Amino acid sequence: MLMTSAVLVVLQLAALLDASAIRSAQSVSAGAMTFDPMTSTPGHVFSTRGRADSDRKEPDYIAIASTPDGNHLLLVDDANRKVKVMAVTSSGVARVTSDVRLSKELWDIALLPDGMVAVTCSQEQFIYLLRLQGDVIEYTSRFRTEKKYHGVAAGLDNDTLLVTSRDYLDVITRDGRVVESFFVSQFRRPDYMCLSGGNDVIVSDWATQELYRINASTGQVTETMSHPDMETPHQAVVDKGGNLYVASRGSKRLMVLSPAGEWRTLLQGKRKMPTGVSVTTDDVIVSWADVQITEDMDMKSWSIVRGYSMSDFN
Ligand SMILES: *[C@@H]1O[C@H](CO)[C@@H](O)[C@H](O)[C@H]1NC(C)=O
Ligand SMILES: *[C@@H]1O[C@H](CO)[C@@H](O)[C@H](O)[C@H]1NC(C)=O
Repeated sequence: MLMTSAVLVVLQLAALLDASAIRSAQSVSAGAMTFDPMTSTPGHVFSTRGRADSDRKEPDYIAIASTPDGNHLLLVDDANRKVKVMAVTSSGVARVTSDVRLSKELWDIALLPDGMVAVTCSQEQFIYLLRLQGDVIEYTSRFRTEKKYHGVAAGLDNDTLLVTSRDYLDVITRDGRVVESFFVSQFRRPDYMCLSGGNDVIVSDWATQELYRINASTGQVTETMSHPDMETPHQAVVDKGGNLYVASRGSKRLMVLSPAGEWRTLLQGKRKMPTGVSVTTDDVIVSWADVQITEDMDMKSWSIVRGYSMSDFN
């Protein structure tokens, strides 16, 4: 089964239905969201393939991060084995300002509080550390890990990382030493992880079709989230209002779950599947895989077709 994929990055601004009401309700507090994803209508702002001159292939963005000020996006381009930086102007136009080529197949990304960037690999037992300064991203080092890790997020202490392997949520130092290791019996394929305020992280599990809220101080699953329309969840992200956005790859939907427990499909792809998702105070950023599907293709086997499988995962 031959398949090609190429990806656009789409910046979606959720237009306000009643801007004045929301503004006064939130009293324009610093960092508050400028939209409510449960009621606002998504509007297209900008899309790009994000090509860089030295790209050898069509980009395939499998994870996205944005800086706290929303001025830069970090994109994991698995096809070119690159991490790219895009500067976003106030008019919502983004362009690649810098990129760094890494030698292995990449996976998840986390922006750390000191401007360092951690990137995991799909097959290797090491993690790359990059440095983001303004428009420029640079390679600094990579370190060996005891396990193969996919999901990554900034640790609760500045010097640590939270990472997921097949059965574990681990806390590791930036040189790979395991500080704490929590066995999570629910995990089957915990592929992506994000912070969710306080001590919580959200882990999306490709195999169980569930998202887990985990207390990162204790490793305890405090909430399990699923929906019949959510299939093979990939990247997830939480906004400042506590809304959880999920790239539901299998069902080709960008979905959102409110803190009150209500689900909404924000975008429904036809032939495109969302892969990465990030959020700033003004925009939701989504990457889409454009897949040529053969007649008999089972959507749920997408990842396996692409060259990695459950058995490969550590
Ligand atoms: C973590 O790092 C940030 C930025 O470098 C710094 O402002 C903060 O004080 C640090 N926090 C701790 C607990 O070390
Ligand atoms: C997470 O665990 C810590 C340590 O036991 C506890 O203090 C905190 O209240 C827990 N947070 C939640 C949201 O349960």
